[in-house]
Parts: sequence; structure tokens; C-alpha cells
Amino acid sequence: HYTKQMPAQKDIIDQTVDFVQQQLKNAEAGHDWFHIERVWKMAKHIAAKETASQLIVELGALLHDIADSKFHNGDETIGPRLAREFLAGQQAGEATIGAVENIIRNISFKGSYQPAQYRTIELDIVQDADRLDALGAIGIARAFNYGGFKNRKLYDPAIKPAQYTTKEQYKNNDAPTINHFYEKLFLLKDKMNTETGKRIAEDRHRFMQQFIEQFYREWNSLD
Ligand code: ADP
Ligand code: NI
Repeated sequence: HYTKQMPAQKDIIDQTVDFVQQQLKNAEAGHDWFHIERVWKMAKHIAAKETASQLIVELGALLHDIADSKFHNGDETIGPRLAREFLAGQQAGEATIGAVENIIRNISFKGSYQPAQYRTIELDIVQDADRLDALGAIGIARAFNYGGFKNRKLYDPAIKPAQYTTKEQYKNNDAPTINHFYEKLFLLKDKMNTETGKRIAEDRHRFMQQFIEQFYREWNSLD
């Protein structure tokens, strides 16, 4: 008697790590494998205090940025599709694949301009982990790296932060990187989903406020 063995969760995770590393080989530094690794670890840390599917949290964290629309001409369908194809090849079940697709589709800040299709605890966790990586010292480094990648100014006192009301306005703006703190980064702490996420976000938020204060002091050449 022989029953086809389902791949163990550990095997799927290992295969996913290999796949994502390969996929992100040439990624911009703020969205590279190390971003994924930090989000993966943080997602596991947050999940430890929640009741959630460990497999879906880990796969969602690992696969959430495999084809960011920012780097694919705005196409938001590639990421979920690639993830589905990959996971189907790993014999993951339809429930798992659907849950991971949902995370990839709804995790983005851009997505917060539209209601999430359906919220799950696994989406809440991975979204918090991803948002935390946009905050604090790493968040500052990533913001300026992304701004440099886009050849944006560090700061321009004449260009005031905007309030975007649509996803398109947010995506298409070319503002200096300091504006990004007001347009997104300082807003994140009030958008956290989990208690662990909120607590860590408060800390990183304070650090960014200190950074910004010091930035203006130096900008104005104060002693
Ligand atoms: P999301 O996937 O939630 O929409 P992003 O991909 O926009 O988030 O952000 C990922 C990283 O890139 C974050 O660290 C973010 O601060 C940075 N980033 C995104 N847009 C900008 C921008 N306009 N200026 C500077 N950094 C940015
Ligand atoms: Ni991310």
C-alpha cells in the first residue's frame, strides 16, 4: 500500500527560500532578499503571540514581494500569479495557495486606498512585519535608497508633503524622500494590526522623529 506523501512544511519553506532568493537576485537594496528575511523573521516573531497558520504566515512573508508592481510597470497581477504557479509546483493545497495570494494582493500601503478583499490574521501579521521594516533605522535607510534609485532629492523646503487620496497619486509622485516620511512612514504606527506590531512601531516611530529633527538642524547648519 502506497500513499503519495505530501511534502513536509519544512521542505516547502526551504524550496520557497531558494525560489525567492533566485527571484530577487537583482532587486533594489530596499526590496532584496535581506528585506524578505527580516520580514520573515519578524512575521514569525509576531505570529508567536497570535493564533495563526504558521505555514501561511511564513509563505506569505517569503513571497510577498517576488514581483512588486513598482518594478513591473505597475502590473499587480504578476506577484500573485508567480506565487500560485510556484506553490502549485510544490503540491501546496488550494487553501494555502489562495491565502498566500490574498496576502500578496492586500499587503501593500497602496492597497490601503481600497478595502482589502478579505482580512485574515495571517495577512495582519505579514502586513505588520512588512510595515515595521519601513520604520526605524532600516526604514530610513530603505527610504533614502529608494529615493536614490529614483534619483529623487533628499529634501526641498519648497515642496510640501501632499495628502494622496488615490493609489495613482501616491504611486506617481516624485517628491523628495523627506516628504515620504509625512506621506507614509509617520502614518504607519496608527495602521498596525497586532499588539506586538503596535509596540515595536511606537519605538521605531520615535527614532524616526528624532532623525527628522536632527536632519532639519543640520539642514539649517545649526551648531
Ligand atoms: P508597500 O509595498 O507597502 O506599498 P512600498 O513598496 O511602497 O510599500 O515601500 C517599500 C519600501 O520602499 C519602504 O521602505 C518605503 O519607505 C520605500 N519607499 C516606497 N516609496 C517611496 C518613496 N516615494 N520615497 C522613498 N521611499 C519609498
Ligand atoms: Ni515588503
